[in-house]
This record gives sequence, structure tokens and C-alpha cells, in this order.
Amino acid sequence: MSLIDWNRQCEPELTSESDWMNRRSFIRCAGLFGTAILLGGCFPEVKELEEIDFDLERAQSAGLPGPDQLTPLRKVTAYNNFYEFGTGKEDPASFAHSLVTEPWTVSVEGHCENPGVLDLDQLLEAQTVEERIYRMRCVEGWSMVIPWQGVSLGKVLERFKPLPQAAFVAFETLFDPEMMVGQRYPHLPWPYLEGLRMDEAMHPLTLLATGLYGKDLPNQNGAPLRLVVPWKYGFKGIKSIVAIRFVEKMPPATWANYVPSEYGFFANVNPEVSHPRWSQRMERRLGEIKRRRTLPFNGYGEEVSSLYTGMDLKKWF
Ligand code: MTE
Repeated sequence: MSLIDWNRQCEPELTSESDWMNRRSFIRCAGLFGTAILLGGCFPEVKELEEIDFDLERAQSAGLPGPDQLTPLRKVTAYNNFYEFGTGKEDPASFAHSLVTEPWTVSVEGHCENPGVLDLDQLLEAQTVEERIYRMRCVEGWSMVIPWQGVSLGKVLERFKPLPQAAFVAFETLFDPEMMVGQRYPHLPWPYLEGLRMDEAMHPLTLLATGLYGKDLPNQNGAPLRLVVPWKYGFKGIKSIVAIRFVEKMPPATWANYVPSEYGFFANVNPEVSHPRWSQRMERRLGEIKRRRTLPFNGYGEEVSSLYTGMDLKKWF
């Protein structure tokens, strides 16, 4: 049975954590061939299971980390970074219930033919919600494997017809200290900002997530809409987005601007470049005891390394 068939067969039931956890053979393969599987639904060529199992064994004997398992839902939703609700890992789960996500509008601005303020349904209209299982690697040295639902950012952006001057895309999180208790304190300059170069934004792996584990995004994970760029450190994954802007120059990004000596705009996962406080060689997968080696581009190098040809990736942290 091909992975496409396998996916199709399972998809309707994918609503609860236990359903997801039952898909262990699928996940085991997703570890090394995540993108083949993740994009299996939209790319005509996918590997057969047998072929993937073979490659998996070979890679393991070459010393790569063991197979990936989904991070349990309770960990994905209880251990978060969302400074708008406090700086503790458990703060977002405790305080993010105050975030009202309906109605929600997103303003699309800048160098494009069709700017506008759209409610979420309009923004996502005509898009196919896809299921993507991605590794997420935080620069603090922990990681998770999360089954997201979302739409291709590139496909969403195309609708607005970006103009040739649009070299970057900037994103902005809601600023509302009434609902976001952490914004009453200067933990960070508010609102949280992030950005991508246009080719990164248009890359098929880049996702605008609307859900995880088959349900709408929990508030603490960035409801109702967040960015997921699996080959970059987690801080690029801006949450609760209210503005998308096509811009000419590299836009400000919260962490890169706040502590430029520690964070860069590109922030591709790179075990060779240590953060001043954390080596990036190894990572702790939540739920696991033994640490595992971090992979360049978080394991997505085959798909994305060509975006950075000619760039000194040590310099462009
Ligand atoms: N987005 C906003 N608006 N505010 C934040 O504090 N934290 C970032 C990123 N997106 C953050 C944010 C960081 S540092 C990480 S590691 C990821 O969200 C964490 O995502 P998670 O809590 O869903 O695991």
C-alpha cells in the first residue's frame, strides 16, 4: 500500500491523540522521510513503506538519531513559549484562555496587488487544509514532533499577488494587553514580529498552521493562526498572527532585534553554530531521557539547503 493510500485511509479518523498515537509505523517513517510523507498528499511521488523502512535502518546504523515519535498532546500544549502570556513554560497554558480568537482578522499589506483586511475564513478560503508532521527545534535545546493542520503559506500569499519589490514577508502578532497578560510587562518589545525571505515564505514546507492533533490550535500554541517553518528554530514560528506585510527590506524580527548577538534573522537549525548560552549539537526531545543529535536544517536539508547557496550559514545564524 502506498503512503498516499495509507494516509487517505486513516485521515477521516484523525481526531484524537490516541488515534494519532496508533499511527506509529507512519510516524516512525516520518522521522527520516518526513517531507516525503508530509507532502505525500500533494506530491505525486512518494516512497513505498518497504523502501522507507530499509532507508531508516541504514540511517540508524550510520549513527543518526533514533526514529521520531509524536510528542504527546499534553506536552505540546503544556510546555510552551508564548511570552504574551508570561515567560514560564507553563504560563501560556494557564493564561492563554483569555485570548478571544473569534472573530479574527488578518491585515495583508505592502507590495501586493490585492491588499486587504480579511477575516480568517476569507484568508483561508479555497485553501486545502493539510496534515503535516514536523519536528520543532527550539534554540533552547528542546524539541518536539507535532502533527499540525494548516495551509501552505505560499499558496495563501499567491492570492494577494506580491509585486516584484516584495523581497520579504513580515508577520505581526496581536497586541492586546487586556487579553494577553504578558504584554502588560516589558518581557519583550511588543508586538512580537517575525519575517521570512520571499523564497522561504513560498517554500512548500512552510505552513500557516490552524490546528494540531486534528483540532483547532489551542490558544497557547498560537491560535488561531501561526507560522511553522520546520527547518528554523522555533522562535521564527510567530503565533496569533494579525498582519502579513510584503516588504522590500529585511523586516524587524523580535528576538533578532532584541538580542542581535544571540539571535539571527535566518535562524536555520544548525548544530555547528552554538548559541552563546546553548550548544546546538544535541537536543532533548520532550518525553525522552537520552539526548539526540541535532540535524542540520532540523533534518530538512535536502529540501531547503539550496535556498542558502552561497550564504555563509555560520555568519547568518
Ligand atoms: N510567538 C509569539 N507571538 N510570542 C512568543 O513568545 N515564542 C516563540 C514561537 N512563537 C513566541 C512565538 C518561541 S521562542 C518558540 S520556541 C515557539 O513559538 C514555541 O511554540 P510552542 O509553544 O507552540 O511549542
